[in-house]
Amino acid sequence: MDPVLRTDRLVLRRLDDVDAAFLVELLNEPSFLRYIGDKNVRDDEGARRYLAEGPKASYARYGYGLLLVSTLEGEKAGMCGLLKRDWLPDPDIGFAFLPRFWSRGYAYESAAAVIDHGRRTWGVGRVAAITSPDNEPSIGLLKKLGFRFEREAVAPGGGGEVKVFASEPASAG
Ligand SMILES: CC(C)(COP(=O)(O)OP(=O)(O)OC[C@H]1O[C@@H](n2cnc3c(N)ncnc32)[C@H](O)[C@@H]1OP(=O)(O)O)[C@@H](O)C(=O)NCCC(=O)NCCS
Repeated sequence: MDPVLRTDRLVLRRLDDVDAAFLVELLNEPSFLRYIGDKNVRDDEGARRYLAEGPKASYARYGYGLLLVSTLEGEKAGMCGLLKRDWLPDPDIGFAFLPRFWSRGYAYESAAAVIDHGRRTWGVGRVAAITSPDNEPSIGLLKKLGFRFEREAVAPGGGGEVKVFASEPASAG
């Protein structure tokens, strides 16, 4: 599988069925369940269903979607990418990493590269981000990426209260 993106320390490529076991681990991390939600992925079959309905459907429809983030040594560390939700006008950035890869700057490095690539390749302008109101690691990361708090909202489908952030393209200030 060809990489979509490379950074100094990371390789990003489209998620595929070979990543099922990794997704079972990531999507059941306490931090993922707490801050993103329960995707009901408990085994490889559930992961393949999640891939088909989520990332793969997004690649087919929009070109972009959540990507697998690996180290240069090939360790699967997390995922990061642009999503398009029906209830938000702009694409939003998503990220989640296994705890053993936290605090190395990987989330920042991959998110910055994904946003830059989205603007150059997919014509993305404004990028949104949504977080639980108490997700301090994510809010801190978004601020470091240059996002500004915009508003509070209630995510449809039982997503609860969220904070909405936005990043404008450089030319728009
Ligand atoms: C959010 C998440 C991806 C951050 O990963 P990470 O590896 O810590 O991020 P980085 O190492 O790239 O850190 C980048 C910046 O994030 C911010 N940050 C990270 N952890 C933080 C914390 N505990 N409190 C406040 N800010 C934090 C800091 O600004 C940090 O920059 P710094 O190291 O210069 O201070 C990670 O906590 C995670 O996977 N959480 C579970 C899934 C999730 O909540 N995803 C977001 C849903 S909206």
